[in-house]
Amino acid sequence: MQHPPPTSRAWTITGRGLPPSVLDLIERPTPTLPPHPLPSDVPQPEEWILIRIAYASLNPGAIFQMTLIPQRFRKAPFNVPEMDLSGTVVDVWHPDPTGPLKNETEGETPFGPGAPQRFNKGDGVCAMLPASHLLPTGTGALAEYAAIPARYAVPKPANVSFADSAALLAALTAHRMVVESGAKAGDSVLVIAASGGIGTMAVQMLRHVVGHLGRVVGVCSGKNSDMVKSLGADEIVDYTLHKSLPRFLARTYEKTPFNAVLDTLGFQDVYKASPAFLVEGGIYESVGIKPPTFWFPDFVRAVWTMKLNEWWPMSPWLGGVGRKWGACNMMSPSLAEREAVVGLMERGVIRVVRDSVWEFEQAREAYDKLAGRHAAGKVLVRVDPNVSEDAC
Ligand SMILES: NC(=O)c1ccc[n+]([C@@H]2O[C@H](COP(=O)([O-])OP(=O)(O)OC[C@H]3O[C@@H](n4cnc5c(N)ncnc54)[C@H](OP(=O)(O)O)[C@@H]3O)[C@@H](O)[C@H]2O)c1
Repeated sequence: MQHPPPTSRAWTITGRGLPPSVLDLIERPTPTLPPHPLPSDVPQPEEWILIRIAYASLNPGAIFQMTLIPQRFRKAPFNVPEMDLSGTVVDVWHPDPTGPLKNETEGETPFGPGAPQRFNKGDGVCAMLPASHLLPTGTGALAEYAAIPARYAVPKPANVSFADSAALLAALTAHRMVVESGAKAGDSVLVIAASGGIGTMAVQMLRHVVGHLGRVVGVCSGKNSDMVKSLGADEIVDYTLHKSLPRFLARTYEKTPFNAVLDTLGFQDVYKASPAFLVEGGIYESVGIKPPTFWFPDFVRAVWTMKLNEWWPMSPWLGGVGRKWGACNMMSPSLAEREAVVGLMERGVIRVVRDSVWEFEQAREAYDKLAGRHAAGKVLVRVDPNVSEDAC
C-alpha cells in the first residue's frame, strides 16, 4: 500500500453562500495520525483511522452549513463539507491497549484504550461524520484523505460497492424514522418525497417491515413513479397532478387512513391536515420543515414551526393538530444503528438509488443538482478516480 502523499486535495468552504460561490478545491497537508489536539466530541484517546476516500455523497444539510454559518464562526483551518464517505484505511492509530475502557454505557460498544482494535490498514470502510465532529474540526467527506475517530466508521461489506456505501446518512435517517413511527407488520404507511435520498430508503425499509399484508404509499412526481414502485411502494400519489396535496390525501384516504406518515421533506400543510388521513394515535414522523430557500430567515421560520409542532399540546381543543409530530434527529447515530443499516445493505434489504455520480472536480455542479430539490435518490461524488462505480 502506498504511503499517503504529504499534500492532497480537498474542497473547502471559503465564505457564506451557495456552494458554487463558496467552494474552492485546494491542496492542503494530508491529515496524519495520531490526532492532535483531540476534538471535543472525542476528548479521550481511542482508535482513529486515516482513510483514502473513494466516494462521498451529498446531503442538503451541507448546503445549509454553507448558507447559514458566517465564515468568522468557522474555527478550523480548512472546512471540508459533507458527512458521508467510503474508502480504504491507510493508517490506524490505537492507544495503549492496556488502558481503561471508556464509554461503557450499557448496550453501547466501548471505544477507549482497552477496547479491541477494529480496523487494519487496507480495510474498506464507510462512515458518517456527525455535525458535532464535522463543524468544529472541519473534517468532511469531500477530500482525498480524512482522519476520523474509528467509532464513526463501519466495515464496508464485501458485496456493497464503495459508491453505495457512501450514502449512510439518508439510510440512517430513514431507519430512525421507521423505528420512531412505530410501523409494524400489516400497517399502512404514507411516505412523502418517496423519490429522494431518504424517501427511497424509507420505502424499502417499510416494505420489509409492513410485509405483504401492509401497504406503502409513496408521494412523488410522476416521472419517478416507476422507480418508487420498484422499491416496494404499492401505490403512488403524483403530487404534481393535484392543486392541493393535503386535500387530495384527505379525500382519498379518509376511509382507509394510514397508521403512520413519514414525511422526508417536511410539509406543514400536510401535517396540519393529517387527522383526515392518519389514524388517531398515529405518528406524523418528519425530518423537519422544508424551508422555501436555503437562507437564514426561512431556516429560522422552519425551525420555529417545527418546535411549535413539538411543544404545542396535541389537543385540537388547545389549538393543536390532533396528531403527534415526531421529529427525527439523526445528529448522532450509535454504532449499533450504523451496523444495522449497513447490515440491511449487505443483506440486500435496501439498495442505494443513484441519482447521479460526479467526478471530484465537479462537486459544484453536483451541488447544483442537489439544490434543485429534485434529485431521484442520492447524488454521489467519486473522489478517487481509480475506484469504478461498481467496485466493491
Ligand atoms: N432530521 C434529520 O436528522 C435529517 C437528516 C438528514 C436530512 N434531513 C433533511 O431531510 C430533507 C430531505 O433530505 P433528502 O436527502 O432526502 O433530500 P433530497 O434527496 O434532495 O430530496 C429530493 C426529493 O424531494 C422530492 N420533492 C421535491 N418537492 C416535492 C414535493 N412538493 N412533494 C413531494 N416530493 C417532493 C423530489 O421528488 P420529485 O423529483 O419526484 O418531485 C426529490 O426526489 C432535507 O431537508 C434534509 O436537510 C434531516
